[in-house]
Amino acid sequence: MSASGETRVEALAALERLRDPQLASAVKRAMADRDSKVRVAGQKLLAQPQPEQALPVLEVVVRDGTIPQRQNAIALLGGMAGDAANRVLAVWLDAMLDRKTPPEIELDLLEAAGRKASAEVVAKRDRLVQGRPADDPLAPYRETLAGGDAQRGEKLLKEEAEVSCVRCHKVRGQGGEVGPELAGVGQRHDRRCLLESIVAPNRQIAQGFETLVLATSDGQVVSGILKREDGKGLHLVLADGKMATVAKDQVEERKRGEPAMPADLIKQLSKVELRDLIEFLATVR
Ligand code: HEC
Repeated sequence: MSASGETRVEALAALERLRDPQLASAVKRAMADRDSKVRVAGQKLLAQPQPEQALPVLEVVVRDGTIPQRQNAIALLGGMAGDAANRVLAVWLDAMLDRKTPPEIELDLLEAAGRKASAEVVAKRDRLVQGRPADDPLAPYRETLAGGDAQRGEKLLKEEAEVSCVRCHKVRGQGGEVGPELAGVGQRHDRRCLLESIVAPNRQIAQGFETLVLATSDGQVVSGILKREDGKGLHLVLADGKMATVAKDQVEERKRGEPAMPADLIKQLSKVELRDLIEFLATVR
């Protein structure tokens, strides 16, 4: 496509005025456009002010679009008032109950359904969310395993101060020393395991990253991640990322400590963010 973003926005507006039969496919393309202005215009066009007209277009996109288009269209359904939108969503929730939906759109369906007050939609959503095994800590997050946006995940991981993954982790050489390098982590672990690392980080500790607590003969307690043990002593990375060495003859007691990866990170993340992070971790080389 060679026309500028503005031109494509214009073209969409013109199509709408003409009630052009090509509108459906144009909107579909617009919603996947590389220019965010065009994507927004496509969305606006669908959402308001004539939802009756937008709905059939949305139905097509939800069924036949690419994954990002389908996700977008489902989000629009979630924001659209009226029973017709509820009905479309209910049909998709039924498909999900029958395990016939691609995993990439399941989070979107649940989130859209979560915005609805319709008793039918609420009941179906409850059925989907409730019957999950209580003894599996990953079960509440099942819908975050696929369909994320790796670029958004990377940005979050590197820039979001609240979660500050890079305070402890390197990604392609940049970041902290406390945890393992994350580039390539997707080759070591599958997505379930990546999810587990974030939502239940204490279940399995990455090799070489156990926390050690040392009581020294001069009455100090030092805790950190054991990097190396040699003639000079035990070399630890402390929580602030600094290195410390404790001579072996100084160590009075030595035991395993609490893992360094914080267990409550998940509280800072929405499910959409979690899904983006997993997509990034699974694909970053
Ligand atoms: C306070 C330090 C700290 C922060 C902040 C932190 N981690 Fe970790 N992380 C660790 C440590 C230490 C380990 C290794 C021990 C373990 O497996 O629990 C680890 C392990 C991991 C692993 C498993 C790596 C492997 O090779 O098995 C993943 C994946 C991971 N972290 C992702 C993240 C993400 C994503 C974030 C941000 C949302 C994050 N971490 C924030 C310290 C941290």
